[in-house]
Amino acid sequence: MTSCSSLGIGLAGFGTVGSGVWNTLQRNSDLITRRTGGGVSLYIAKILVRDLAKVRSTTSEVDSEIFTTDWKSLVADPSVEIVVELIGGTSDAFEIVVAALRARKPVVTGNKALLAERGVELFAISKEMDTPIHFEAAVAGGIPIIRTVQDSFIGNQIHSFTGIINGTSNFILGRMTDGGLTFEVALAEAQALGYAEADPALDVNGWDAAHKAILLATLAYGFPIDPAAVHVSGIEQVRPADISFAKKLGYVVKLLAVIREHEDRSVELRVQPSFIAKSNILASVHGVFNAVAVHSDTAGESLFYGRGAGQDPTASSVVADLVEAARFLGSASGHRGFLPYRDSGRILPVGETTTAYYVRFDVIDRPGVIAEIAKVLADHRIGISGTHSPVDPANPDAEFVDMVFMLHSCPFGELQIALTVIETLDCINSAPVVFRIENY
Ligand code: NAP
Ligand code: HSE
Repeated sequence: MTSCSSLGIGLAGFGTVGSGVWNTLQRNSDLITRRTGGGVSLYIAKILVRDLAKVRSTTSEVDSEIFTTDWKSLVADPSVEIVVELIGGTSDAFEIVVAALRARKPVVTGNKALLAERGVELFAISKEMDTPIHFEAAVAGGIPIIRTVQDSFIGNQIHSFTGIINGTSNFILGRMTDGGLTFEVALAEAQALGYAEADPALDVNGWDAAHKAILLATLAYGFPIDPAAVHVSGIEQVRPADISFAKKLGYVVKLLAVIREHEDRSVELRVQPSFIAKSNILASVHGVFNAVAVHSDTAGESLFYGRGAGQDPTASSVVADLVEAARFLGSASGHRGFLPYRDSGRILPVGETTTAYYVRFDVIDRPGVIAEIAKVLADHRIGISGTHSPVDPANPDAEFVDMVFMLHSCPFGELQIALTVIETLDCINSAPVVFRIENY
């Protein structure tokens, strides 16, 4: 532990999360100092922003002298001892983190895209410089899941994680289900509440959840993961009709991340909209809340639940990391992050993953269509548990209608082959939409 003199923080980014960190330190820094026996006292020495003229809710509270638009001067400033990266993205953020590590200044970041895409390079530099990267805020906002995997479960073999790990998409699905909102209106609400990424496409196309899933899998299974190996689809294709159909059958639609180690040690890693039974505990995770169910050999089943996005919950994780970085500042073994312990690992190809499915076809409304599709499925030995063709009351004479098939479990690869054939049928109007049906 360092002496009780105040440690200067270089805060790169003063948007939703950065200003939350400022607020939390304003409120609780005395508490932190008392709780660490007087060992940790933190203050914000420099703040990096893009636009100095922007009016901020904190403008009157923060000394304008400490703002800069020059990240190099922030990292190099002698009063900055720990660098917090909260600007997002993978280019400038990468430069900032590298420069901080090279200057042996510990880094705290909430940037899952950066770590999932360029973590291999960054953790190598972290190791070389014996300077840590802390990233609790990168996964599941205020839930301390990174620390759980790195510390609390260090003596566990983790069999699986099943998680709702994108607050924005969970919020949107909930508002579409309960509030009857359109996708666009629900997304605008999530943005206004500070849940969405600067590029909200990452939230709705599943990639924000995939970045987080990559970080969890990397820590749990010990090998770096190429994002290209992950099967990702998002909630853009979810329609109110899917949600209400799921409801009739006793399911809810959630964007689920599934990370599972198989007996041959290959790792299943996918993010997809999924039907889960209403009785499943994850079905009760609403709004911006996240939940991660962990199944491990020693602890058994555990569930971690809390706010997965937003200013204060995320600031809570950043500040926890700041205190940890401060506690170990200058200690001989500063490295913290990801230490590979397997030379390589195998991500299970998505074609080999098996679940049941919900498939929505857009078909010409004529007799015999069900039989045509059913024949192709039967040819590929895929069982049907039910079909349904909801009539759109607003458009009863439509030329094209939705035709829903619920399918028994089969390898995804088999289904993909069958769908390729079905798409060639002249009754099919556009590409089918597939959601998983997850049974736990
Ligand atoms: P944000 O509200 O968009 O804030 C970004 C901040 O960084 C702004 O202050 C912006 O400056 C500054 N900035 C961006 N690019 C910059 C550049 N090239 N040079 C200098 N300053 C730059 O973002 P956020 O929601 O706080 O998210 C920040 C990071 O935390 C992201 O990596 C995100 O994925 C992660 N995260 C966010 C949440 C959440 O709930 N929002 C939760 C967990 C993790 P101006 O203010 O001048 O525009
Ligand atoms: N945009 C992210 C989400 C922020 O909605 O989950 C938290 O990582």
